[in-house]
Amino acid sequence: MSHMTARQFPATRMRRMRRDDFSRRLMREHTLTPADLIWPVFVMEGEGQREAVPSMPGVERLSLDLLIEEAREALELGIPMLALFPVVDTSLKSELAEEAYNAGGLIQRSVRTLKQALPGLGIMTDVALDPYTSHGQDGILDAEGYVQNDRTVETLLKQALSHAEAGADVVAPSDMMDGRIGSIRQVLEQEQLHNTRIMAYSAKYASRYYGPFRDAVGSAANLGRADKATYQMDPSNGDEALHEVALDLAEGADMVMVKPGMPYLDVVRRIKDELKVPTFAYQVSGEYAMHMAAFENGWLDADGVMLESLVCFKRAGADGVLTYFAKRAARLLAP
Ligand code: PBG
Repeated sequence: MSHMTARQFPATRMRRMRRDDFSRRLMREHTLTPADLIWPVFVMEGEGQREAVPSMPGVERLSLDLLIEEAREALELGIPMLALFPVVDTSLKSELAEEAYNAGGLIQRSVRTLKQALPGLGIMTDVALDPYTSHGQDGILDAEGYVQNDRTVETLLKQALSHAEAGADVVAPSDMMDGRIGSIRQVLEQEQLHNTRIMAYSAKYASRYYGPFRDAVGSAANLGRADKATYQMDPSNGDEALHEVALDLAEGADMVMVKPGMPYLDVVRRIKDELKVPTFAYQVSGEYAMHMAAFENGWLDADGVMLESLVCFKRAGADGVLTYFAKRAARLLAP
């Protein structure tokens, strides 16, 4: 008699479903499509102007004529929306950021022109004063240099209204002042702009990952070594993000956002689980810069890592992602 012990087979073989492409595809839980992408772009004055942003390889500031061509391509690739950011001439920056609500300003003109040329492309604008202030903060300062909340909200209202009147589909307050969503919603309703959507930068952290963006819009030098910790959130906090989101929803936000993206995916998941509302994440300039640095050194596989970084936002519960990779990703995802 041989003393055979019963052979132990695994009760479950997880690898069975991974063996073939067909079954991997069948059980895939999340997919990334161009419809998940929002493309942030930097617009500058002039014609035929294109300027590289050194800390964001592959990203350029574009004059409106060139931006329209790029935007047309984005629309054809299936990208639903652009997020516009202005490069404001130093001579137009001031303590009170009056240029922010100039009906003939760069953003307001860009919105009008883009909507006319490409009506099917969603246009989102950033509501915040930092590109327009001489000190680079997102609001109006008191004598001690503190950003005054209610005074700033008054200016943000004018800015948001000027964007909506120019035809912006979505206004996106990124300033983190208290009560601004409710005030903007009231003004939009009063002015019969019932369908202008609000995407609230609800959980916006006081992050060091925004550095390259501040280079791109030209607010880095003005801001100097100052930070935005008196209005943006502490990176150590998670519960507070839910409080912020709940307030913005109660005040009339249609969509909420978490920013930055990859280091904050836990926050995205908590918001989605608890509130079940349209939730977006911003893969910010510093995240883009880190990826590009590794890609350019040949340290990471560019296309593979880029798509992996983006599908992870879907898995975390995001409905869409703002990313500087939008066009590059959409090209790879094209059927
Ligand atoms: C402006 C604004 C910032 C970003 C988007 N809107 C910078 C900031 O708050 O300092 C950052 C975007 C990025 O880093 O890609 N309030």
